[in-house]
Order: sequence, then C-alpha cells, then structure tokens
Amino acid sequence: MKKSFATAIICIIFIAFLSNFTTKSVKSFVITTVNEGPILPETPFDYRNVVFPDHLISPPEDIPTGYESGPIDTSTISNLNNDIATLGRVLFYDEKLSALENISCSSCHLQEKSFADDKAFSEGISDLTKRNSMALNDLGWSNRSHFFWDMSQTNIHEMIVLPLTDENEIGANMEDIETKLSSTEYYPELFAKAFGTSTINEERIVDAIVHFINSMVTFDSKFDRASTDQFNSFTNQEMLGLELFSANCTNCHSQGSHNPFGFFGNGVEIFLPIGLSELESFPFIFNNGLPEDEDDNGAGGWNAEFNNLFKIPSLRNVALTAPYMHDGRFESLDEVLNHYSEDIEENEWNFFFPPGGFNFSSSEKEALISFLGTLTDESFKTNEKWSNPFESSSSLPQIPDLQFVIKPNPMLSEATIEFDNPNNEQVQVNILSSSGQLIETRKLNGEYFTLDKNKFSAGMYFVEVSLGEARSLKKLIVQ
Ligand code: HEC
Ligand code: HEC
Repeated sequence: MKKSFATAIICIIFIAFLSNFTTKSVKSFVITTVNEGPILPETPFDYRNVVFPDHLISPPEDIPTGYESGPIDTSTISNLNNDIATLGRVLFYDEKLSALENISCSSCHLQEKSFADDKAFSEGISDLTKRNSMALNDLGWSNRSHFFWDMSQTNIHEMIVLPLTDENEIGANMEDIETKLSSTEYYPELFAKAFGTSTINEERIVDAIVHFINSMVTFDSKFDRASTDQFNSFTNQEMLGLELFSANCTNCHSQGSHNPFGFFGNGVEIFLPIGLSELESFPFIFNNGLPEDEDDNGAGGWNAEFNNLFKIPSLRNVALTAPYMHDGRFESLDEVLNHYSEDIEENEWNFFFPPGGFNFSSSEKEALISFLGTLTDESFKTNEKWSNPFESSSSLPQIPDLQFVIKPNPMLSEATIEFDNPNNEQVQVNILSSSGQLIETRKLNGEYFTLDKNKFSAGMYFVEVSLGEARSLKKLIVQ
C-alpha cells in the first residue's frame, strides 16, 4: 500500500517537473522515459588511448611559438578506464541525480560550447550562478591542482561533490542519489561493469564523473596539426596572430590553460610581492586588468593576499566558450581584444601590460582572433563519446507552454497566480517544495488563484499550472 502511494507521488512529481521546467529543459510528458536508460555502444568508446601531440610531450626547440607547455603529465589520461568513463558520461547527463530531476551537469556545461554555457550566469535551481560556467576541456592534463575561477578547490574529487550537493546546482543529497540510482534498471549494471560490483556510493559516483571529465581532450585542432609542419598550414593572418600572442599573452596563457610550472617554467623570472613567490598556487592565477568586480574578489575569498586574482583559463576551444571572463562580461572575442588593447586598468598586479593596454591595430586584433580560432577542435563538439546518451527531448512529443504570472514574487502577504482561461476550462495548480514534495494541489476554474503566505515557510517553491495539454512551471520565492 505504502509503496503504491509512494509510486503515485513519484509519478505526480515526475509529471509535474519533467513535463516542462524551463524552455531550455522542456521534457516530454511520457512516463516511460523515466525508466528508459541511456543508449550506449556495446563496446565502450575508447577514452583511454589518447595520442598526445608531439609538441606537448617534447616541445621542439625550433617551434617559433613561445607557447610551450613544459613537460606534460599524461598519466591521468593513460590511467582512464573506459567502463568507468562510460558510467561517468551517463551520470554527467542524467537529470535523475537532481532532487527535481530537472538539472544535470550538462545543463550548465554544454558539449557544443566545450562544456561551458552560453550565458554569463547559468540558471541554477533557484537562482543564477554567481560566476560564468567554465569549459571542461583539457582539465585532465593541463591543470591537476586548482579548480574554479578563484582556484579555491585543489582536489577534483572533492570539487565534484560541490555541484552535486550545491542547493543551486544539482542540489541533491548524496544518500538520496545513491538510493535513487540503485532503484533504476540501468545503474547497478553500469556500476558493476565499471567497478566489479553493483554497489553505488559517493566515491564511485565522483570517480566515474572525474574519469569522464578527464577524458575530454581537444587535440584535433589546427594548431596541434600545424605544429607538426612548422606552421606551414597557417595563413599569414594566423601566423601574425601566433606571433602577437607569443609576444604579449604567453606570460600568462601557455599551452592548455597556463604554464603548469608557473611563470618560471620558461625561464622568465619576474618580481613578485614578497611571500607570494613561495606559494605554489600563485602562478596559476592572475589579474588581467579588468575593472575591479565589486561582487567578486576572486581568490581574495580564500586568501586576502590574492584579492582580484582569477584562474587563467585554458584558451583551447576558446572560440566556443563565449561569453568570457569569470562573470561572462564580454560577449565576443572582439570585446576581449578591445579590453586587452585599450581598457587595461592600472592596479597592483600590472606586471605584463603597457599602461592602458597593448594598443593593437584592428588588423592585429583580427589576427589574434584568427589565431585563437586555430585552437578549436571542431570534432570535440560532436564526438559521440562525450555526448548525451539519453534520448534527446526534441525527438519526443513537446508539451505546449502555458503562460502564467505570479505576482508579486517574492510573495508578500499574498501572491496571485494569473493565467488566461478564455473558455473557463478546469485548471490544475500544484505547489511543490524545492525538494519536489507536493504541498498543495487545486483544481479550479477561472483565471487566477491566490496563495496565502501564512501557509508557507520561507524558501523556494515551484508552482505548476496545467490546463488541458498545456502546462508550465515557475519558481515562487517566499521570504
Ligand atoms: C547550475 C550550473 C552548474 C551545474 C549544474 C554544474 N556546474 Fe560546474 N560550474 C558551474 C560554474 C558557474 C562554475 C564556476 C564556479 C566558480 O568559479 O565559482 C563551474 C565550475 C566547474 C568546474 C571547474 C572547472 C575549472 O576549470 O576549474 C568543474 C570541473 C565542473 N564545474 C564540473 C561540474 C560537474 C561534474 C557537474 C555535475 C555534477 C557540474 N559542474 C554542474 C556551473 C554549474
Ligand atoms: C597578466 C596575465 C594575462 C595576460 C598577459 C593575458 N591574459 Fe588573458 N586572462 C588572464 C586571466 C587572469 C583571465 C581570467 C580573468 C577573469 O575572468 O577575471 C584571462 C582571460 C582571458 C580570456 C577569456 C577566457 C574565458 O574562458 O573566459 C581570453 C580569451 C584571453 N584571456 C585572451 C588573452 C589574450 C589574447 C591575451 C594577449 C593579448 C591575454 N589574454 C593576455 C590573464 C592574462
């Protein structure tokens, strides 16, 4: 009895949430999909046999780039396990991990954007994220020790637990995830293939996601290919861009993300404020002359000495990852180049910029942008091994949107939900808690419904309104 009641509630929640959360994640109203597993190849994709370009493993001395990398640690990639990475792929894309089954890692990390998001701030469960989502390419070899724009995370396994449990990201409790995954048809088998037994626990979940992310390399770029032929295949414009880049940008940006050995790797010694030069983490972060961000002091959040320092991001695939910078303030590479050229702000970190900026001509800016374009690996955007293994929502019947408003939101002593109902049909209003529990359900006619604040404690709720085939879901904030 209890079980069928629980199943009914799960079904209601499923209908309410998977049906139509935001336009981005419009889901079909087809119950069977909830039990449908991912579509996976019989023999797992090969995540492990990655051929590192020669110029990364042993940079030839005569490459005229100044964009060397120093020795690269390839062990993370050669230790990848195909079955574990396959499981990681499924977890990365599975909205089932989130409390309301409406968000996954891939909601903010999109393959066609090199796993960044196309918005300055991503839509989390209850709010926008505080920073621009980050691309996930090449983390497996370019930077093993610091993550996030403020580089506050030093262990990728511990880091991955944060988006999983962050109330605004996946928002799940690890025990709930474990229970939920155990009850699916597909996870026990995938865990058994990956780890030998079907046990599902936090360590294995995180490990699998880490294998999947570490497998994301972008070695099929024009830059990688050209470096084997002395850049003969580069156009004159790309070559000029490479020269300008080597002269002006490689103090901070070197292969992958930045010089893995800090500013000292290429023999350049610079003056650093006393104390900072001893800190292993310092060379990975820097300031690039953006006006001070009042809302975000970057690494200053964990060390006051590092105020306004941010991770030097990888420029591999950078043409795919707009908008740019920690707060997504620039919409295009043109805007980025205008910043470096004319808008550098004077500050205590100004070691690498001439006053005001590099003062590039417009053809130099274009050349730099063409060069940055050679760092794109087009195949990365569509390679199936990193793609969504679940049936895409576009192939399923779509639910028409129902327009409604909640006024005021956040709610004062009352809030009214208003919708168009010209034929006075029956409308269903469901109120759900942020963890997906059905709090109130009403069937009514007319064009509005009033909520009384006394019935709610402070927090975030979801209001779902359905009328015939059309339905829609909105957030309601109660302060
Ligand atoms: C709601 C949007 C959102 C979701 C969902 C999300 N992320 Fe992120 N991710 C971000 C943002 C924003 C950042 C930058 C955070 C910061 O700097 O404070 C980020 C940063 C990262 C980084 C650090 C990259 C680097 O170069 O330092 C990794 C790795 C990552 N996310 C992996 C994941 C994984 C794995 C999941 C799923 C378990 C996930 N993210 C879910 C928005 C999201
Ligand atoms: C002094 C170090 C430094 C120099 C020199 C430098 N950068 Fe940067 N770059 C950074 C830092 C730090 C960030 C991230 C800043 C932030 O988000 O607050 C960044 C961000 C970027 C981004 C945005 C990447 C993204 O994913 O959002 C691009 C593109 C870029 N730089 C290109 C260049 C080019 C081209 C040059 C040379 C003209 C250059 N940089 C010179 C430190 C530097």
